Amino acid sequence: MNRRSAILLCLVAALAVPVFFAAPPAGAPRKLSSYDPQIKPILASMTLDEKIGQMTQPDQDFIKDLSDVENLSLGSVLSGGSSDPKEGNSLKAWTDLYDRIQEHSQKTRLKIPLLYGVDALHGHNNVLNAVIFPHNIGLGCTRNPALIEKIARVTAEEVRATGIQWAFSPCVTVPQDARWGRTYEGFSEDPQLVKEFAGPAVRGLQGDDLSNPLSVLACAKHYLADGGTTYGSVNHQGKPGNDQGDTRVDEATLRRVHLQGYITAIQAGVGTIMPSYSSWNGVKMSANKYLLTDVLKNELGFEGFLISDYNAVDQLDRDFKKAVGISINAGMDMVMEPSRYKEYISDLKALVNEGTVPMSRIDDAVTRILRVKAAMGLLDPKRSPLADRSLWKSFGSPEHRQVGREAVRESLVLLKNEHHVLPLAKTAARIAVAGKSGDDIGNQCGGWTIDWQGRSDNVTTGGTTVLAAIRKAAPNAQVTFKADGTGAAGATVGVVIVGEKPYAEGAGDRTDLSLAPEDVTAIDNMKASGVPFVVILFSGRPMILGDSLDKADAFIAAWLPGTEGDGIADVLFGDYKPTGKLSFSWPRSMDQYPHAKDTNPLFPYGYGLSW
Ligand code: BGC
Ligand code: BGC
Repeated sequence: MNRRSAILLCLVAALAVPVFFAAPPAGAPRKLSSYDPQIKPILASMTLDEKIGQMTQPDQDFIKDLSDVENLSLGSVLSGGSSDPKEGNSLKAWTDLYDRIQEHSQKTRLKIPLLYGVDALHGHNNVLNAVIFPHNIGLGCTRNPALIEKIARVTAEEVRATGIQWAFSPCVTVPQDARWGRTYEGFSEDPQLVKEFAGPAVRGLQGDDLSNPLSVLACAKHYLADGGTTYGSVNHQGKPGNDQGDTRVDEATLRRVHLQGYITAIQAGVGTIMPSYSSWNGVKMSANKYLLTDVLKNELGFEGFLISDYNAVDQLDRDFKKAVGISINAGMDMVMEPSRYKEYISDLKALVNEGTVPMSRIDDAVTRILRVKAAMGLLDPKRSPLADRSLWKSFGSPEHRQVGREAVRESLVLLKNEHHVLPLAKTAARIAVAGKSGDDIGNQCGGWTIDWQGRSDNVTTGGTTVLAAIRKAAPNAQVTFKADGTGAAGATVGVVIVGEKPYAEGAGDRTDLSLAPEDVTAIDNMKASGVPFVVILFSGRPMILGDSLDKADAFIAAWLPGTEGDGIADVLFGDYKPTGKLSFSWPRSMDQYPHAKDTNPLFPYGYGLSW
């Protein structure tokens, strides 16, 4: 070897060694495909029935006989928004339900544990006494990614306390038209903010390592452009809407506005992604091979698996079998078929036997599902897949509530503050509280709380309403409450809490976002009493405020803050300054839609006062 080639060799070696031994960059999660060597022999030993079973997710509510779990080798089960344990929504009932179903997975030949999925969207929101965090629209106003991660961490711990290991969250939608009933599930109308929050939201749920017993598998949704649908492109019971509608934009806009959250979610190692019910230029997302396979899996390098939305595959064709073939061939890996799961299984098997769905596609889907299970430690025979009930002790704990309280106070946006009405004095002689939502934890939490659509009144236990929080914060003041705002005359100050009643998905699409008549009345009555007052608005989106804004001395957009009303008192009484900044621009009138942000909004994106 001459000198030159010797030097070259040294150089190559010097370069190669660090590459060879280099650890993954700090903070980067282990690649899911690195589990493939472990999976290969399992896959090779599986029958077609076992493979298809892994690709199937029924809703527990529709499983009449739990022996289906072992007979069909089911890979997953979900509880949809209102799919509760028969025994009610206590922590114990949920944990028992999980264990009862998971035990059946251990009766299968391969004993592969199933993944149990729920919509833990703002805390473990189906379980009584869980900490309910602000919906994403409020979290967007915090501009605090570290807080987003902390909230997701607490959520993961509460989810794991019930044994459940999969949350259909975070929602990284970028809503462009607040008439959409799912607007509140999005952090922002601004793609950059969604991009910034998606990573921390995934990291918080999945933890530093998916195999950690406190980690929860995350699911970024709804891919792609669920928030871009044209109003009126769908009808819900004869009413125009945009939920599950058609997004009519070119590809550059699609990517610039709607793809951003997925990029950072994938960088953070998100294990699953849920394709949207909606369409892009007339093509349903669950059928879009280009966007599911070419863009998401091949271009962006997503190595986890795709889970279809609830009955979404059914929408692809009148012929269900054909619909299944379209979706699986487009790249769907696991299908959420709440009730028709047996039909799905036999149809998919027939499609494979006929050659319509290639075996390679089945093997790819199952590899992706098993990778995730391996990464979660579920294929480790030494680990029990049953719930760890020692985690119950921190469920709904004061420490967890403290994180909720912090989130609430940082999410509040002060829209107006005249005559120095805020902060309120704890020494006020009398505080007159009013408004239908002043003492209503259900309205405070919004949709996806215990029930799919949420509900007014005492929907859950363990929370603090604004009224209760004010009483706690100002123990020496006389605090009176009348929902309609009457009887306030003579009070030192008034607080009127109004807003939207809970809703979710299509039921929340609206052509009119004006304040409800009873809310206007409560504000008018308070005004008539001559008492200076602040209005606190609970809503899943900006509302049309009309002259209610002028009547109030101060106005706070509180979004859907969840159970920790103390966070509102923290700001009302000046223990913390308001810091929230609007995550959506706030229009003056409905006719500004669909271009609310570009047509001289009442309050622009980023607006928020302090003192
Ligand atoms: C929603 C999803 C949800 C799923 C399961 C669907 O209707 O669109 O966001 O994860 O139901 O509850
Ligand atoms: C379920 C939800 C689901 C919805 C879809 C409801 O019954 O509880 O999870 O999103 O149906 O239509």
